[in-house]
Amino acid sequence: MLIRVEIPVDAAGIAKLLRKVFAGNREADLIQQLREDGLITLGVVATDDYGGIIGYAAFSPVMVNGEDRLWVGLAPLAVSEKHQGKGIGKALVYEGLDTLNEFSYAAVAVLGDPAYYAPFGFKPAAEFNLHSQWPDVASAFQIYSLADDALVGVSGLVEYSAPFDQLPA
Ligand SMILES: CC(C)(COP(=O)(O)OP(=O)(O)OC[C@H]1O[C@@H](n2cnc3c(N)ncnc32)[C@H](O)[C@@H]1OP(=O)(O)O)[C@@H](O)C(=O)NCCC(=O)NCCS
Repeated sequence: MLIRVEIPVDAAGIAKLLRKVFAGNREADLIQQLREDGLITLGVVATDDYGGIIGYAAFSPVMVNGEDRLWVGLAPLAVSEKHQGKGIGKALVYEGLDTLNEFSYAAVAVLGDPAYYAPFGFKPAAEFNLHSQWPDVASAFQIYSLADDALVGVSGLVEYSAPFDQLPA
């Protein structure tokens, strides 16, 4: 297994993985749209011994009260069913956080199960009076601070880019 940054030739394998893991086109279409719009800040893939894509994590820009503060959102995160539970999701997230840190990004938002994301250091966004554009899933909205002062004096709306709102239900 290899964890590395996404390159253009991975696109088809990533789409195939996302269609399978999420049983539909939604996440694959989202990634395609983000890619077309130049909104993938960082994509990390896990590959098997034959180069096949078995895991993927994408990070794209999120605005804080309409301002670019070098925050990104992690979505989606997927590991092929056959390879789940072997630490690949964890390796993808850590690789993403490390790389974003190297490039001086300030914070990472995620909408997901707190039981999964808390061990990485993600905190409930509500603790910082931060919310996403989807109030129904407020308890799943979490933030990871990469820069010491990223969350100081910041509260309000953390907004994912337009392709997230254009997703079919
Ligand atoms: C969620 C997902 C990415 C996890 O990937 P994975 O490679 O199976 O996870 P890992 O093996 O790296 O697990 C890391 C840790 O989280 C735990 N864990 C795994 N799935 C979990 C879950 N759903 N809830 C809570 N903890 C979980 C593991 O037990 C492991 O704990 P440990 O470090 O103490 O051993 C994968 O199961 C998946 O693709 N699921 C379907 C898509 C999805 O739900 N994506 C997330 C939302 S976008």
